[in-house]
Amino acid sequence: MRSIIDITDLSVSELDELILTAKDIIKNPDKYSEACKGKKLATLFFEPSTRTRLSFEAAMLELGGSVIGFSEANSSSAAKGESIADTAKIISCYADIMAMRHPKEGAPAVAAENADIPVINAGDGGHCHPTQTLADLLTISAEVGRLDNMTVGFCGDLKYGRTVHSLIAALARYKGIKLVLISPPELKIPSYIKYEVIEKYGMEYVESESLEDSLPTLDVLYMTRIQKERFADLFEYERLKDVYILTEEKMALAKPEAIVLHPLPRVNEISVKVDRDPRACYFKQAKYGKYMRMALILKLLDEAKKNPEREPMKLDGAIINKLVCKNQKCISTCEQELDQIFKIADKENGICRCIWCEAKQKL
Ligand code: NCD
Repeated sequence: MRSIIDITDLSVSELDELILTAKDIIKNPDKYSEACKGKKLATLFFEPSTRTRLSFEAAMLELGGSVIGFSEANSSSAAKGESIADTAKIISCYADIMAMRHPKEGAPAVAAENADIPVINAGDGGHCHPTQTLADLLTISAEVGRLDNMTVGFCGDLKYGRTVHSLIAALARYKGIKLVLISPPELKIPSYIKYEVIEKYGMEYVESESLEDSLPTLDVLYMTRIQKERFADLFEYERLKDVYILTEEKMALAKPEAIVLHPLPRVNEISVKVDRDPRACYFKQAKYGKYMRMALILKLLDEAKKNPEREPMKLDGAIINKLVCKNQKCISTCEQELDQIFKIADKENGICRCIWCEAKQKL
């Protein structure tokens, strides 16, 4: 049995296989309409969501399964102080698979360590959002026709935008991807993505503050919302919130065959007028998300059937309960008696990472 916490939990061949399944579902929906008959998906959403939760639920219903769950923390026993570990154990009694969104980074990883059913991370704080990446990959594959040899621009909140972090981690494993990272200095990509993903995989990249200058070079433009809820200082959010707005005039600078993606929700970073441009693919992207979630549910339930045991965490070389995670958004700051576990990331420079939230710490 396997959970999907990070996009790199799936190999490139598995990503390709999921894309193929999703394309087959689009062509032959009837073939899959009873594939999950008798199975239940639990959606545990401790943070707001429209697309992710409803597309997960629609995905399970279209596979012939059923859905239980909650859409806000206050309507669950989390409001009474129940831990993630206990919640995961309880949900395992009622459902066959669960999708969890949580504001604390690493919460779905803690759930996966305690559940007897597969756990899917549906977004944890500013950390990662692997199933949005599945939607993004299918959109690029279907609309551009390939997943390699292209220039992808990410624009907006690259610091807190978890969808950006996960998509870059996925693209790092495809050949010939060039990145253009467009953000104000305050919202640059986190250093762990820059050094441990982009540079480690030898991806070509440039950082820029100008959307206009970057647009003519891009095959894919990935716009993002400035993540208001993750700012410690709301004055800073106010100062940065309108920094990039994609308009029809700016679209005139883009390649005729380029595509524009956005995980949505949009606030004002893409003018509504851009929606009628055939290069605007963000509504299609939301639809593709449902098909990829169908493919993922099928795969994880199939694996769980063949191998119902949870794989133990690989802890060789880990530092256990000797350091405390300093990331205030880490699940370890509030989960009762959770082991503090760090893995060595860079031995030479004495750097390790919390296994729950991936925050860096010096030894
Ligand atoms: C994104 C998220 O929740 O991270 N939305 C989504 O899942 N489609 C992006 C965002 O909230 O800006």
